[in-house]
Amino acid sequence: MTIPDSNFRRDVIRGLSARQKYLEPKYFYDATGDRLFQQIMQSPEYYLTNAELEILQRQSNAILGSCLQFHRQFDIVELGAGDASKSLYLLEQALQRGISYHYYPIDISGNVIGYLETSLPGKLPGMTTRGFTGEYFHMLEELNRYSKGPKLVLFLGATIGNMQPEEAFHFCRELHTYLNEGDLLLIGFDLKKDPATILAAYNDAAGITRDFNLNLLARINRELEGNFDLKKFRHYPVYDPGTGACKSYLISTEAQVVTLGDTRISFEKDEAIYMEVSQKYDMGQIEQMARKSGFTPIQHFYDRERNFLDTLWTVPSLKSVLGSR
Ligand code: AVJ
Repeated sequence: MTIPDSNFRRDVIRGLSARQKYLEPKYFYDATGDRLFQQIMQSPEYYLTNAELEILQRQSNAILGSCLQFHRQFDIVELGAGDASKSLYLLEQALQRGISYHYYPIDISGNVIGYLETSLPGKLPGMTTRGFTGEYFHMLEELNRYSKGPKLVLFLGATIGNMQPEEAFHFCRELHTYLNEGDLLLIGFDLKKDPATILAAYNDAAGITRDFNLNLLARINRELEGNFDLKKFRHYPVYDPGTGACKSYLISTEAQVVTLGDTRISFEKDEAIYMEVSQKYDMGQIEQMARKSGFTPIQHFYDRERNFLDTLWTVPSLKSVLGSR
């Protein structure tokens, strides 16, 4: 199931009609956006991917060891699977050790799900891959019809960073309602660090991140009869070390009117479209997020430079929650 066009149109018009104009980052990922994001992940400035790759390459065994304290076998579900290049290390180990035989990737992009369903069986013989294209919670509900046993849910890549802390907390609390006692969640957070390092990751010298942002305007042109002139918008990322929010804007370089079909959107000179937040966390905030949303943190897995954290949480039994009061 793909998101129908009408949702895209509705969300874009709502965002561009708001007092502070905004677009939703989930719409970055059309075929061109997927390709640009792959390039971002390979750019020298974007440290997140290598950091998390290192965690999964070096610590998949330890992560699974931690999970085995809870269940002998479990299905693996991945939210925002992308090309699964990082999770593949964990999946391979889980298969080899006889821990998991079912992998359920969920992604907003039908392109990546199609790719995973065709490419994974060759890489993971004996594991079944069944993909779901759509919004996470809708797809989790659907998936719960197939996967009845215990689950390990992967939510990697700091995808949760696309929400501000309050929204991320609500997300975790809602995710909790789709899980059962003893289910596990491995969730990736990008950590606060040198502000210059963070800003550079969203302002790469080659301009891929700029093109990634501009591609959403191009996508609106392609799919919603838009007439954005991409030359009249400038990529402007900012990082606030106080809040940990790294935000990207596109700035209109002149006063202009853009049309989407018969909808007119006017921009003042220097008016900003808020494109996305990439939220950075410290350990205190992460532990608090776990507990406030009903999870119990089990173990933290860092890369060697401590740039990034994959943290393993579980849904505690009601008995243990009541007991700890
Ligand atoms: C996919 C949300 C983790 O915020 O780092 C990368 C998206 N945007 N460069 C991030 C992104 C620009 C990325 N996430």
